[in-house]
Formats: sequence, structure tokens, C-alpha cells
Amino acid sequence: MGQGPIEKSLLPDTTVLAHGETLIGGVSLTELAKEFGTPLFVYDEATLRARCQEAAQIFSDGVAFASKSFLCGAMARLAVEEGLYIDVATEGEMDIVLRSGVSAQRVIVHGNNKSDNELRRAYDEGVHRLIVDNFDEIDRLEKLVTSEKVLHCLVRVTPGVEAHTHEFVRTGQEDTKFGFSINSGAAREAIDRLKSIAGIRVHGIHAHIGSQIFEVDAYLETLAILAEFVFEDGFDELCVGGGLGVAYTTGEVAPTITEWGEQVRQAAWAVGFPASVRLTAEPGRAITAQAGVTVYKVGAVKPVSQRTYMAVDGGMSDNPRPVLYGSGYEAFDPSYPLAERTQAVRLVGKHCESGDVLIDEAWLPEQTGVESFVVTPVTGAYGYSMASNYNRSTRPAVVFVLNGEARLVLRRETVDDLARLEV
Ligand code: LLP
Repeated sequence: MGQGPIEKSLLPDTTVLAHGETLIGGVSLTELAKEFGTPLFVYDEATLRARCQEAAQIFSDGVAFASKSFLCGAMARLAVEEGLYIDVATEGEMDIVLRSGVSAQRVIVHGNNKSDNELRRAYDEGVHRLIVDNFDEIDRLEKLVTSEKVLHCLVRVTPGVEAHTHEFVRTGQEDTKFGFSINSGAAREAIDRLKSIAGIRVHGIHAHIGSQIFEVDAYLETLAILAEFVFEDGFDELCVGGGLGVAYTTGEVAPTITEWGEQVRQAAWAVGFPASVRLTAEPGRAITAQAGVTVYKVGAVKPVSQRTYMAVDGGMSDNPRPVLYGSGYEAFDPSYPLAERTQAVRLVGKHCESGDVLIDEAWLPEQTGVESFVVTPVTGAYGYSMASNYNRSTRPAVVFVLNGEARLVLRRETVDDLARLEV
């Protein structure tokens, strides 16, 4: 039993697996771990840029980076440098983006319960688009917006399409908290109301059907449903949201951004969208997931009768996805990246609960043990961004690597950072 070396396709584009070391962006992962400590998120800037470029090319009318997948000032600037807009879903995300120097005109604002404050800030800053989600939000907008200044909007609709993905990240079906239902007539009513408000300009519609989707068919079904609205209302913009899946474990295969974009565009033409309609998208995971890895250090190895537990210095606080969605990951030892992985362990974190499992059955080389570094690939999306301070742990540092250089983009949290909140 056992597994071969880690598959390179799960790693950032510039990864070099050599005898005794693993390089990303020309920098050794073990050297990074020693310099910046662990757990450490390492992002390959070349991969991030390549995915942004791919998205910008195929969705040439506009693509927004879904910042919820991973955000810091450096990431926001990088996405905008590559021609993308940025989708934010809270004032916190908006604030990081604006502080990074990105113009509000590159920002797209989401949220199924935007506060007065969030709406006001979006309006005052003059964001590119606000995606309207519900009637209560329309009530608030009616009070906020004046004819002096235009708020550019899209209307979020639920097409009634069930994407095949985990129920927690499925959003296109009727039974959802997001958007206006097309079938119930709510979407039609919302559009009519918004059109009657002076100062609001509705450009079109937005539909995000879910996340970690491998089958492009669900998007095609959605387009057919949305076509009617675009025609009847003379809209000039349609956003198909994000949601393209990525491979996390050996053997998984996901469509590329280009394949996804091509099929979506062809389907749009097939259902008769005029070329004048801006067809836009909003990927997050497909841009950040494979660009990032997490480096941990092993602190304890405990054989019990059924298996061996290998504990690292992070866990559900830096990657809650296994606990939340039962997501699978791979692991490898950056000092032995070419070795057969013949040691089966349950890779666990350091938190005070049995559910704190990163990988139920991880395969690592025989050499991996206490004091070894262990890397989990494809942690660039929804890892750092969903990191918590559970057990008052401090969130990891994040470095970007490029051409043999590493730069710290988010420093490690310290216990003083935690103490700052005490009053
Ligand atoms: N647009 C909207 C309106 C969204 O709600 C999302 C994700 C995206 C775009 C980007 O989706 P992506 O391309 O990244 O799949 N925490 C979960 C994923 C939640 C996704 C939430 N919305 C996970 O770790 O799998």
C-alpha cells in the first residue's frame, strides 16, 4: 500500500520537486518555513497572475476576483493590475481593497444582508456595481440613493438550478437565502421597483449558482433561463458568478478557466444573447486555490491501535474546510518530495476537539516524523480567508514568492494582536 510522490498538477505552476527540497517561485519551502515560521501560507505570484490573466482573457467584458477566497492588500492590487474587478461581500473586504489603493470603481459589492453602513459606503465611494439581493435592501436603497448620483446595480436572481456540489455552497436553487426567485416572480418585481427609483441604474442581472462546481452544464442551464430577462428588459450586462471547481486530490480533474469561459460564452450565443451584452464572471477559488500551499511543522506522532495520529501546529483554525465540508486534501514532505508516500497517518491539528482533522488518511514518506515539515497543497482558497482564532490561536503569516524572492504580505498574528481586543 502507499502512494507515489505528490502530483505536480496540484501544486503552483512554478513548483520544482527536487531531491531533498521543494521550490516554489524559486524559493525553498523549508527555508521559508524556517524564516517565517509555521503554519505558513505560501502563494506563487506567477500562478495567481496566470489565473487572473486567463480569466481576463476569456471573460474579456469584465471579470471580478471573488475576494472572499483570499484577500489582502497585495492580492487586491495584483488582481487589479491584471485587469480584474474585485468582488467584496462585507465592509471589511471593501475596506481592505480600498486601503490597498484600489479604486472604488473596480469594486463590486455583494451581500444578502448589507447594513446601512455598507450600503452608504458603497454609494459614497462610487463602486462599480452593487448587486441587489432582497426587497428590504431595496427599501434601504430607496432612502439612501438620490437623483444627484447614480448607483450602478445588478439584480441577483436565483434561476432554480441545482448545481451538483456540497449543499452548503449551493446557491442557484429555489430554497436559498440569496437573490430573487425567477419562478416566484420576485425577480421581475425587484427589477420593476429598482427601475422606478431615481438614481438607480439597473444594468442587468447576476446569478451565482454555487461553488466547487465541476459540471459546466449547470451554467448552461442558467443562461437559458436568464436569456428571457436580458431580452425583455433590454439589459446590457449579465454576470454568471463564480463557482468553478478545482482539483484538491490525486486524480481529480476540473475544467480550466478557459474551458469554463468558452462553454459559457458559446452557450450565451446559442441561447441568443446579443453580442452587445457584457458577459462577466466572478471566480475566486479557480484563481487562488492551486496558487497556495500551507506549510506545517509536525509536533507529535501518536500511534494508537487503529492508526497513527500525526499532529501539526495548525489545523481547523487555518483550514476549516475538512470539518465543514468533508473536503479532501493531499500532503507531502517538502524535504522528500520525490519519495514514495508509504506512511499512512491521520493528519490532525492542535485544537481541542477530535474533529480537528486536516486529512483523514494522509500518505507521507517513511522519513516524515516529529520536527518534519508537512505541506498541504491547494489551500490558497478559503483557507486563510476562513481562518479563525479558535483556542486563541494566532493566524499564520502569508508570503508571496516570485523569481527566487519571498515577500511577507500578511504578518503572523501575535498574542498581542489578540489582547488588543480586550477592554
Ligand atoms: N460570487 C459570489 C456571489 C459568491 O457567493 C461566491 C462564493 C463567488 C462568486 C466565488 O465562488 P468561487 O469561484 O470561489 O467558487 N467556503 C466555501 C466556498 C464558499 C463560496 C461562497 N461564495 C469553500 O471553502 O468551499
